[in-house]
Amino acid sequence: MKVTVVGAGAVGASCAEYIAIKDFASEVVLVDIKEGFAEGKAMDLMQTASLNGFDTKITGTTGDYSKTAGSDIAVITSGIPRKPGMTREELIGINAGIVKSVAASLVKESPNVILIVVSNPMDTMTYLAHKVTGLPKNRIIGMGGALDSARFKYRLAEALEAPISDVDGMVIGGHSDKGMVPLTRLATRNSVPVSEFISDDRLTQVKEDTKVGGATLTKLLGTSAWYAPGAAVSGLVQAIACDQKKIFPCSTLLDGEYGLSDLCIGVPVVLGKNGIEKIVEINLDDAEKAHLAESAEGVKKTNGLLEL
Ligand code: LAC
Repeated sequence: MKVTVVGAGAVGASCAEYIAIKDFASEVVLVDIKEGFAEGKAMDLMQTASLNGFDTKITGTTGDYSKTAGSDIAVITSGIPRKPGMTREELIGINAGIVKSVAASLVKESPNVILIVVSNPMDTMTYLAHKVTGLPKNRIIGMGGALDSARFKYRLAEALEAPISDVDGMVIGGHSDKGMVPLTRLATRNSVPVSEFISDDRLTQVKEDTKVGGATLTKLLGTSAWYAPGAAVSGLVQAIACDQKKIFPCSTLLDGEYGLSDLCIGVPVVLGKNGIEKIVEINLDDAEKAHLAESAEGVKKTNGLLEL
């Protein structure tokens, strides 16, 4: 199993690190445009192998895509991150050009690759990857919902004063401050609805804290987060590499599901060796449906800024 990670910045490197630590891939190739940067990160990570006990081989290259040839999975993290106060949508101008050329280069070297898009604005970049590569829709996956759901579970556990392993919950919709739809109604603590334990007001607070999860970290760190994004990507990569058939909310091209089409947005999907093996349509209540429809409007508006 060969995995390429484009962008050796904080998110890309953290993603490579978590993949290596889980030790399911034979090879991870890091690519960056900054001379020597990916090579350096790869060497540093390889020097953790004996300490962390993994055999995954990590190499780096400065923009030589021939080194990525034959990748089974490729992750696109390249582009500029958010600065405090910026929305993900404001990154579109620079990141669209980068994602376009990276996606084309990856598919040229690895025609059978499964692409995971992380660059922001993520739902629009996932849609762009479709337009540029023409890959079948099961082979292009946007990473947002897995991260937003992890942040949701963190906030739920905090509110419930419970360990995170007791908590389950999912965020669908666009990967944006306004677009996220945390499904509080379906969130549980050991299969009991969380509304049995906390008030509606507290649950509304959890929802709001989840939606600004990325922005909160950007303010604290001065740039966007990397540990949870990297871990979320590694979870998707592992589900595909190990054919786990796990459900994650991911951004995928919709064709009528949830009453939406011609956009990529976060909905639950089954991930296995073929990438997105199934889009899972769950019953939403009227408020959730309205929120998802509004979120889709926002994503379509951002898609409208693409020069296709
Ligand atoms: C975040 C970025 C990765 O939410 O979108 O942290």
